Amino acid sequence: MEFHDLRDLSKKQLYQCALLLNKELPIGWNKVEDAQNEISEQLEADGYFYALIDSGQLIGWGGILPCYSGNVYEIHPMVIDSKYQNKGFGGLLIKYLEDKARFLGGLTIYAASDDESDDRRSSLRDADGYDDIYDKMKHFDPKNHPARFYMKHGYQLIGIMPDANGRGKHDLILSKKL
Ligand SMILES: CC(C)(COP(=O)(O)OP(=O)(O)OC[C@H]1O[C@@H](n2cnc3c(N)ncnc32)[C@H](O)[C@@H]1OP(=O)(O)O)[C@@H](O)C(=O)NCCC(=O)NCCS
Repeated sequence: MEFHDLRDLSKKQLYQCALLLNKELPIGWNKVEDAQNEISEQLEADGYFYALIDSGQLIGWGGILPCYSGNVYEIHPMVIDSKYQNKGFGGLLIKYLEDKARFLGGLTIYAASDDESDDRRSSLRDADGYDDIYDKMKHFDPKNHPARFYMKHGYQLIGIMPDANGRGKHDLILSKKL
């Protein structure tokens, strides 16, 4: 199993990355063309993107984007093919991204994870994002939202962007000290 810089992948492999983004995160990229455009734009900017490939098969891919003068890195995106989920590959990929961010001088790494899909809802879904929000965050339960994955890897819920995706559909901000 190997990590490959997305900038070294073939056009065919980059297309597979776009297909994966569209398949696993259709709310964000509901057309393959949107995912292709996102990848092209990101590769022209100053982020770092890596694909996890096993025997020629794309398992998943993810990236980190520098912000706050490189003190902070945002994970964007983070995706593992559903055929390979819950087998530890996401854990390998996130550790790789964290190591890279640390090597680059990052002090904090974070992910903004929308709580908007109908089948993955955290305890904050439909909660008023302004009413007693610190107490709600203190008792946060990710349930089957991907925030659970980040928390399992040492990330803390540090805030939310209330109603980012419509009323009661917040963006959950999770971060970790590097
Ligand atoms: C989130 C994701 C990258 C995790 O990858 P993975 O390879 O399945 O993760 P691992 O096998 O290393 O870790 C599995 C752990 O994370 C949890 N987990 C993984 N995906 C989860 C999800 N979508 N919702 C809730 N928990 C999740 C598992 O329940 C498991 O924890 P447990 O042992 O306590 O049950 C993967 O599920 C994925 O690509 N999902 C679709 C895209 C997505 O939601 N990306 C994140 C957007 S911010």
